[in-house]
Amino acid sequence: MPGTVIVGAQFGDEGKGKVTDFYAEKADIVVRYQGGNNAGHTVVVGDETLKFHLLPSGVVQGKRILIGAGVVLDPRVLKEEILHVREKDREVRLGIDPRTHIIMPWHNLLDEGRENARGATKIGTTKRGIGPCYADKAERTGIRFEDLVDGEKLKEKISEFYPIKKAILEKAYNVRVPFTQEDIFKEYLPLGTEFRAFLSDVSLEVSEALEKKKNVLFEGAQGTFLDNDFGTYPFVTSSHPISGGVSVGVGIPSTKINRIIGIVKAYTTRVGFGPFPTELNDSMGEHLTEKGNEFGTTTGRQRRVGWLDLPMLRTSMRLNGFTELAITKLDVMSGLDTIKVAESYSVGDKKIKFFPYSNKGLEKAVPNYEEFDGFEITGDEKKYSQLSAGARKYLSFIEKELGAPMKLVSIGPGRLDTVEK
Ligand code: GDP
Ligand code: IMO
Ligand code: MG
Repeated sequence: MPGTVIVGAQFGDEGKGKVTDFYAEKADIVVRYQGGNNAGHTVVVGDETLKFHLLPSGVVQGKRILIGAGVVLDPRVLKEEILHVREKDREVRLGIDPRTHIIMPWHNLLDEGRENARGATKIGTTKRGIGPCYADKAERTGIRFEDLVDGEKLKEKISEFYPIKKAILEKAYNVRVPFTQEDIFKEYLPLGTEFRAFLSDVSLEVSEALEKKKNVLFEGAQGTFLDNDFGTYPFVTSSHPISGGVSVGVGIPSTKINRIIGIVKAYTTRVGFGPFPTELNDSMGEHLTEKGNEFGTTTGRQRRVGWLDLPMLRTSMRLNGFTELAITKLDVMSGLDTIKVAESYSVGDKKIKFFPYSNKGLEKAVPNYEEFDGFEITGDEKKYSQLSAGARKYLSFIEKELGAPMKLVSIGPGRLDTVEK
């Protein structure tokens, strides 16, 4: 293994939680490197379903779990999540980097205020305060985990920023602030005290672990096309889910990463607004939504669905450098008469094989579809050779087009519904 990254190849919700849990068995440490509780990762083991927004999914396998500097952390959500895991008699062996930025109550209000002010250009954020927290980090007006666990520093920072945020919320967004400075201090100070024991220099801990040849799994949140630079800006998140995000989000050189697993859903989904060239707004779309239970893990919103998109995946391959692929939700494709895959796009009389860099270009892109005969997945397949010829043909096509081996096929939500190749 040693440095292995799990990256969502599309718009998020590809099944990263499931695959992380599967590979975590062989890992010593599982690390989140970006995003925050906008993520919703589902792990299904037997008849138990666990959903994580902040804790790395490796917690289910009882591994050491780390939150890197590139994450934005809401301590209120962390408290709830830890409680939830402990209630299920699972151990939480957590470390949090001192440089990790903290989501404050004003970030949630700003997220909502900005969205409402945007009108027609709404992003459809999760309203978890992610964007405003990253904005403060970039503006150098953030509160870090090292401040949260130091009561004096926390008080100082809250006193400095609260009046400014309150003024912005009230004057720019016409939002009433329902809490005082003192309220925040009362809520956050005990959280800081409680979490002090989790403080760990994650950059150092991961570097030393890799030096000792331990297996470290980096669990991406969101997906490639929600990347702040390389996604469908402005319909993106505020962090860098792509594999390059690991280096800056954890504080290790990229040369320490030798395995990059692209998680590809067998079709495409997207939550929130923004371009989606292969979107299906018909009965096929409804069928996939229903069969795939495509409702958001974090906000419960219905996900938009569409066919698999190779220009998108080729671009994902280029951005992430996948050394292997894992395909999920293949069972959802079972029983269709015909399956379509966008093989390229036509823009005017030009054929293109990659995702255009701008949304304007994407609006003009018309997918050219390749059709495949439908296939069945029984759910009893344990080996790759037991998958039907039709399913293997679909998978081989993707593998060949992307130029990376497919090492895992997921045919159900459970840990055991997994076929390795
Ligand atoms: P993540 O954000 O990438 O971790 O994905 P989510 O957990 O938000 O969404 C994936 C959903 O699909 C979850 O409900 C999973 O339990 C489920 N899932 C994962 N893999 C499979 C699969 O192969 N087949 C089916 N039917 N469901 C799956
Ligand atoms: P996981 O890790 C799918 C989407 C939101 C919105 C945009 C910006 O479960 O795959 P934000 O709250 O981040 O400012 O919202 O990004 N989004 C996700 N979509 N899966 C996610 O995470 C997402 N996290 C954010 O719906 O369109
Ligand atoms: Mg999700």
